[in-house]
Amino acid sequence: MKTILVFGGAGYIGSHTTKLLLENDYNVIVADNLQYGHKEAILTKHFEYADLMDKESLNNIFEKYKIDVVIHFAGFISVGESVENPMKYYTNNVIGTLNLLEIMLKHNVKNIVFSSTAAIFGNPIYTPIDESHPTNPINPYGMSKLMIEHILKDYHKAYNLNYIALRYFNASGCDEDGIIGESHNPETHLIPLILKAIKGEKEYIKIFGDDYETPDGTCIRDYIYIKDLAMAHKLAIEKIENYSGSINLGTSKGNSVKEIIKIAEKITQKTCPIQIDKRRQGDPAILIASNQKAKEILNWTPSYDIEDIIKTAWNWELNKKF
Ligand code: UFG
Repeated sequence: MKTILVFGGAGYIGSHTTKLLLENDYNVIVADNLQYGHKEAILTKHFEYADLMDKESLNNIFEKYKIDVVIHFAGFISVGESVENPMKYYTNNVIGTLNLLEIMLKHNVKNIVFSSTAAIFGNPIYTPIDESHPTNPINPYGMSKLMIEHILKDYHKAYNLNYIALRYFNASGCDEDGIIGESHNPETHLIPLILKAIKGEKEYIKIFGDDYETPDGTCIRDYIYIKDLAMAHKLAIEKIENYSGSINLGTSKGNSVKEIIKIAEKITQKTCPIQIDKRRQGDPAILIASNQKAKEILNWTPSYDIEDIIKTAWNWELNKKF
């Protein structure tokens, strides 16, 4: 049985991946500093409090367990905040990852699956975005993730570190069981905010710009279901000793902000109050992934569509546990 260290396992994508790995009989250790993660989302009995900036806390984990693969989710993710406070992002995301890699190598652990992002591409020059698309991040968050991808590539060459960097497009939806779900504080993501407006918890949803060069003027994104994303991590673990590199993860389909609102209204049978606002800084008009490489390398295909995603998110919104 393989032992997987899920760093950031109390977070949104980390907890859903932990659940899938446990269901598939992996031995899962969750590490988290619980700054943004939720203790209710820790699904394994092996929990270790650890912080990327505290090397001793990292070292303790590798002394205690024989880890086969690390999945590293523990990053700060807010694009706007990264523009205002780049130090926070470069310190936690880049230096924190360097610390983790140092301790891994010290203990001869040579497999890592890393959470990267579509934000490394910046404003795309074509879509769907494949892995040959130039990288040109337009905010410190995206830049911090791109820097780590470069570091992983160099460590692969120099130290035989195996890595797979998974570049998520828009992770969304929740597990159907209703045990875990999406809960960020503050919440900035479109689908939970729409559902909060529908529920009456927010007065309205602000649409950030309706003058983009898209059919209805609002931004188009590639929404990928959280359980499909979790599955990609399981497949990456299985593949990691035979392949190192970066892989885009999306559905290859896009939906505009207005389309998402319409689908949410259809599913909930309620009206979503909206207000048109100005464009949000750093938002590209269209982000859609090519998932050709994910299919070829990981044998991965997404199996849920946007309606399924919003149904699960609504179920969570009505019955959230945290
Ligand atoms: N949006 C609104 N109103 C809102 C919130 C969002 O109109 O209140 C719009 C955004 O402008 C964007 C779309 O809805 O067009 C999706 O926005 P999200 O904030 O949900 O997601 P992003 O596409 O901005 O961000 C996601 C991840 C980031 C990652 C990025 C990569 O959350 O971590 O994709 O582009 F960096």
